[in-house]
Parts: sequence; structure tokens; C-alpha cells
Amino acid sequence: MNVNGKHFRTIWLKESDPSTVQIINQQVLPFTFGILDLRTVEDVRKAIKDMYVRGAGLIGAAAAYGMYLAALEAGAASFEKDLLAKGEMLKATRPTASNLAWAVDSMLSKLAGRSCPLSQKQEEARLAAQAIADSDAESCKRIGLHGLEIIKELSRKKQGQAVNILTHCNAGWLAFVDYGSALSPVYAAFDAGIKVHVWVDETRPRNQGAGLTAWELGQHGVPHDLVPDNAGGHLMQHSLVDMVITGADRVTRSGDAANKIGTYLKALAARENGVPFYVALPSSTFDFAMRDGVKEIPIEERDPSEVRFVYGKTRNGSLTEVQICPDSTTARNWGFDVTPARYITGLITERGICRAAEQDITALYPERADE
Ligand code: MRU
Repeated sequence: MNVNGKHFRTIWLKESDPSTVQIINQQVLPFTFGILDLRTVEDVRKAIKDMYVRGAGLIGAAAAYGMYLAALEAGAASFEKDLLAKGEMLKATRPTASNLAWAVDSMLSKLAGRSCPLSQKQEEARLAAQAIADSDAESCKRIGLHGLEIIKELSRKKQGQAVNILTHCNAGWLAFVDYGSALSPVYAAFDAGIKVHVWVDETRPRNQGAGLTAWELGQHGVPHDLVPDNAGGHLMQHSLVDMVITGADRVTRSGDAANKIGTYLKALAARENGVPFYVALPSSTFDFAMRDGVKEIPIEERDPSEVRFVYGKTRNGSLTEVQICPDSTTARNWGFDVTPARYITGLITERGICRAAEQDITALYPERADE
């Protein structure tokens, strides 16, 4: 997608030095647009862990490029052993999004058991990482085209009045390699000339809505308003939301969806108010080995200081972090929650839209039904 009119992906290999991975630094958005070089697997591990890159699809692509850097660092005699160890290290960074482990395992299975020279294995690792990034972007583009049909229909029912879409967290192009999941249909609709307006949940504690979703919608010119996390119920009661679209970090074979903490509450409010609630995801986010999301999906618990402090710009323009609670107050910080399938109107995938139900999901992905 475009930044100040120039096309960017969120991650790529440096043109002048393909052994360096470059990323958009999401820690400093929306105040600064910066690019970081990652030269080692350790750089990639830190970038994922400390959320210089974040969002399910992007951490998957970052892990794939990390495995390419691992191949560059590996010894000829210990290639597979080195890759396995670095893969485990990358997988340990963030537990909830399935894309990360999926990408590491895909890289390992492509590179295992090869008897060619080291330089060839390294070239294959580069191509495999590139293919994962390309397919993430392509899947997100398709999600947009499928989701567009839902927005078109809502627009038709509203006789061309703006379709109001509520989203939580950031599941736009910054959370993937390009296009995004939840926001891809929004961009497709906007580009097709359909009037859309997005309610952007601020998404405490890290404010991915305020800092990232609002920034990327603004870059694309999509009308939007930032709302406090707790406003969704009120907006839905007053018919100010036509649909909710969120992303997902892991979706089980039965359609339970883990997404940023607070998503479940939006789904409950949507059900109570008869508002359609869609979850958009590429296939790399499915976890066919899990059925009961509430019981089985590992939920990341992050540093409590993310709750106790907020980071932002003061009225005089300087960037700073401030504490928002008494010195002695302790906090807990779960990053995600699980929305049970029964609250989800439909899943928007790169293969089409389906019910959040095992039968429908496995019909769309028959080759993965035995995972
Ligand atoms: O903690 P983050 O920012 O990596 O969280 C991931 C997310 O951005 C959201 O949960 C998102 O809606 C799903 S990822 C496309």
C-alpha cells in the first residue's frame, strides 16, 4: 500500500544487499515513518518480540525471512540442526498467532533433507521466504475482493449512504505484508467508489487502532473516526455500525477466533444488536489441530507496564511515556481473547466466505482437514 504516495510492503529484502531484511518500524508509528535493517536471526527475534513488526501475517513473514537469515548463518555440516534451533527460538517469541509457527514449519519442511551445496540451500531459503511473503500479500488481496461483495450489498441496502464498519486493533496492511485482512475489503470498497466510514477502536493497551489503523486509513484517504474501546456497544445500539470486521491471530477448525483483547466484547455487542460480525483471515491463520479455541489457544500475557503507561505526543510535540495509575498499582496484560464461532457471522478467507463451522471450513480447505 502507499505511504505518502509511494508503494511499500511492510517487509522486504534490501535491493543493494539481499542478506539484509528491511521492515517498517511499527514502534515509532504514527509519529515517525522509519525503516529498520535486520541482519541476523537475533535481530528478527527481537523485532518480533518487541513488536517492531506485529500482526499475524507480518510476524509469519518476518519469521520466514528470519529462517532465511538462519540459513545464511548455518554451518554446512550442521545446516538442519542449526535451522531447527533458530526456528524454535523464533517460535518462542509470540505464542498466539499461528502464522509464526506455520511459517517456520513451512520453511523447515522445504529445506529439510536437501543434499545440495550450502549456497544452493541458502538460495532456496531466500526463494521460500519470498514465496511466503508473496502469498501473504496475494491472499490478503483476495480477502479484499471477497469482502467487497458484502460491503457492496450493504451499500445497496443503504441506497449508497456510507457503510459504517467497526474494526478492532490493526488488521490492515501493516499487520501483513500488504493489503491487510480486515481492512482489505474496506480498501477494495473505497477504491471501487463505495462510500465507507470506519469506526477505529483505539485498542488499549498498545493502541494499535489509534496509532496504526488510523494512520494507514488516513494514508489511503478512507474516512474514519477514532473511538474509545468501550464505545462499540453504544454505536451499535444507535444503528451507527453496519458491520464489524476484525482480523484474527488463530482460528480453530471449528471457527473459534483469537484476536486482540476486546474483540470478544465487540462480538457480544454485535450479536445483541443484530450487527453482522465478520472475521477476515488468510489460511496461514487457521490451526486445524485445535477445535476448542477458549480451552486450547495459548493467550500471550505481556508486560504489565504496557497497561500502566501510555506512550504518545504531548501538546508541544514531544514524544513521551506517562504513567496512568498510582505508583503501587499492579496490572495484568492479556494480549488476546477468543470469540467463539457462534458469534461470528462469517469468515472471509482468500478462498471465499464461509460459516465459522468445521464442516464449512474443511470444505474450503479439504487438503488440511487431516492436520
Ligand atoms: O499484538 P499484535 O499487534 O501483533 O496483535 C495482532 C493484531 O494486530 C490483531 O489481533 C489483529 O486483529 C489480528 S492480526 C491480523
